[in-house]
Amino acid sequence: MTFHGGPDGGPEPRYDFSTNANALGPNPVLLSALRLADLSRYPEPSYAELRAALAAGHGVRAEQVVVGAGASELIHRLVRLRGGPVLTLEPTFGEYGHAARAAGVRHLAVRSPGEFLELLKGAAVAFLAQPNNPTGELHGRAFVREAALRAERAGAWLVQDLAYAPLSERPVPVAARAFRLFAPNKAHGLTGVRAGYLVAPAAEPAALLAEAAPSWVIGAAEVAFLRAQAGAEARTWLRGTLPTLVAWRRRLAALLRERGYEVRESAANFVMARLGDDAAAFLHARGLRVRPLFDKGLPDWARLSAQPPAALAALAAALEERG
Ligand SMILES: Cc1ncc(COP(=O)(O)O)c(C=O)c1O
Repeated sequence: MTFHGGPDGGPEPRYDFSTNANALGPNPVLLSALRLADLSRYPEPSYAELRAALAAGHGVRAEQVVVGAGASELIHRLVRLRGGPVLTLEPTFGEYGHAARAAGVRHLAVRSPGEFLELLKGAAVAFLAQPNNPTGELHGRAFVREAALRAERAGAWLVQDLAYAPLSERPVPVAARAFRLFAPNKAHGLTGVRAGYLVAPAAEPAALLAEAAPSWVIGAAEVAFLRAQAGAEARTWLRGTLPTLVAWRRRLAALLRERGYEVRESAANFVMARLGDDAAAFLHARGLRVRPLFDKGLPDWARLSAQPPAALAALAAALEERG
């Protein structure tokens, strides 16, 4: 298992800063599409129509698109299929390391972009989250291009995880000749729907990945979700939420800084803050959930997502009490 934000089996918090789902969601356009899904039948097993629609949105061929039961399932499938070392640039999303452990392959966890580029030649799969989780950082265009080039030369699969790209305040540098992984449930505030997809740089790896999945890896609800999120109406709703999310994230960062906490700014809808190693438990006891980062070797830090004014007021009051 990997530690995640969101429900932890305990009582529901009053305010949840620990998940990165769009706090203005769920997207009503997608909720309507989900209600209309025909759950009485299996979906068409090759997902041909869905893959064609997703491909059209990215200007690629349908043969390059693979659907999965969430980006996490695709991450595990990629790693299992390649069966070699997994390279990550830490701190980052824990599922990459989890997939390496589950597949019994080496996890090359490096901390600098230079080391990442150096070790690409020994990797089977390398993951780069854009923006990164938990830092919210965007890797620059030159670095992404160089990583894609070196991966191609070495025969490594470079996977750009674009889970938070739709929530990024700034344009996200992406290499078209590497894998692109999409997890739209976060941006649309529907993380209970387990659906993601990837765009492979060519048809062959995509076919191998599709072969490696069980039949009907996603159901009719997920098909309806993926199909509708590619549509203009759903995207218009999402774009409309961005200015508010950016404003909430800035207010959150300012509130924490005013109280003397170090904050790492971010292009995405969350920030990292140095709240101290007891903060998560203190806030939890007051009905506020943040995502502690001890599992990423950052015991003093927590990740907090952009939330509405009432949540911020509750956070401010709890931090006041903490002193
Ligand atoms: C960077 C990143 N990629 C992928 C995922 C998982 O996506 P999904 O919910 O589609 O499995 C997450 C979830 O937190 C994430 O942070």
